[in-house]
Amino acid sequence: METTETLVRLKTEAPARIAAAASTEELDELESEIVGRSSPIAAGRRSLGQVPPEQRRDLGRAINDVAKELEALIAARRAVLASAEADAALADDAVDITLPSRIPSRGTTHLVQQVMDEVVDIFVAMGYTVATGPEAETEFYNFTALNFPPAHPTRLESDTLYLEYGDDPEGVLLRTHTSPMQARYMEQHDPPVYLVVPGRVFRRDQVDSTHSPVFHQLEGLAVDTDVTFGDLKGALDHFAREFLGTEIETKFIPHHFPFTEPSAEMHVYANGRWMELLGCGMVNPAVFEAVGYDPDVVTGFAFGIGADRLAMVRHGITDLRHLFDPDQRILEQYR
Ligand code: PHE
Repeated sequence: METTETLVRLKTEAPARIAAAASTEELDELESEIVGRSSPIAAGRRSLGQVPPEQRRDLGRAINDVAKELEALIAARRAVLASAEADAALADDAVDITLPSRIPSRGTTHLVQQVMDEVVDIFVAMGYTVATGPEAETEFYNFTALNFPPAHPTRLESDTLYLEYGDDPEGVLLRTHTSPMQARYMEQHDPPVYLVVPGRVFRRDQVDSTHSPVFHQLEGLAVDTDVTFGDLKGALDHFAREFLGTEIETKFIPHHFPFTEPSAEMHVYANGRWMELLGCGMVNPAVFEAVGYDPDVVTGFAFGIGADRLAMVRHGITDLRHLFDPDQRILEQYR
């Protein structure tokens, strides 16, 4: 009798609860409560064994009818909820194709590279060829072939970064300037030579607003039968006017380099002061001898332009560190 009452209650109350289920999840819970393994329906079925045989059939049928009816309601409600949920998921996922697209950030050639490319172009227009050389260099090409005496102070580890690399008898280092390419190139090519060599160089320097252990140079070398200091000044003045404008003032100040004689620095007047831009000079006959050129037949000049300096002078940058800082807000100003 008890089972019958429960069934009647279920039959009258459950349909409203099924209709009120707000999600398939809620409906699942309801389903196991109403028709699941521990539901009154399952309990009723289990109790059939104790029911007198003459009632068993009717009661069994009644249980099955209620179960079927409620299962049908649950299935119908599930279909409605599932389709609403699928619609909502689709709406959530929708892409608004009228939104503006995300613009990928555009990279730039680094300012120092732009400067080197431009300087190379200026010399190529004067008939120079371009070459590059190794950054890990032998002490021979970096110093010895360039007439640095064995005890020259810049050979010391306090100035130069040595590498533990290979078995070169004179040692391997990070080149301190692009000048070793003078010797390498002349060894491989007969004169005349008109050469420009852009590249990265390394010195044991502390970082500050004008120093960096890594910086950039452009080496130049002109060797022919009658090259004069006047040619050197003419070529470098032309370069300065092309790169910094025709109004730029230059001056040459005597200096010393082991591989040039005489030697000079070229300064330019920019941003209210004189700035050293490059070292230069007439190729020392000792260098010609080291590479197998006849110093009685050829003369030449060489120069080494500081590319980072050049960028600073032209763009009024006062701190070298900006050029080695990966801050896009700075870098993207120089497109
Ligand atoms: N190599 C020199 C330096 O790094 C510059 C230089 C190059 C001077 C060529 C003379 C000739 O300071």
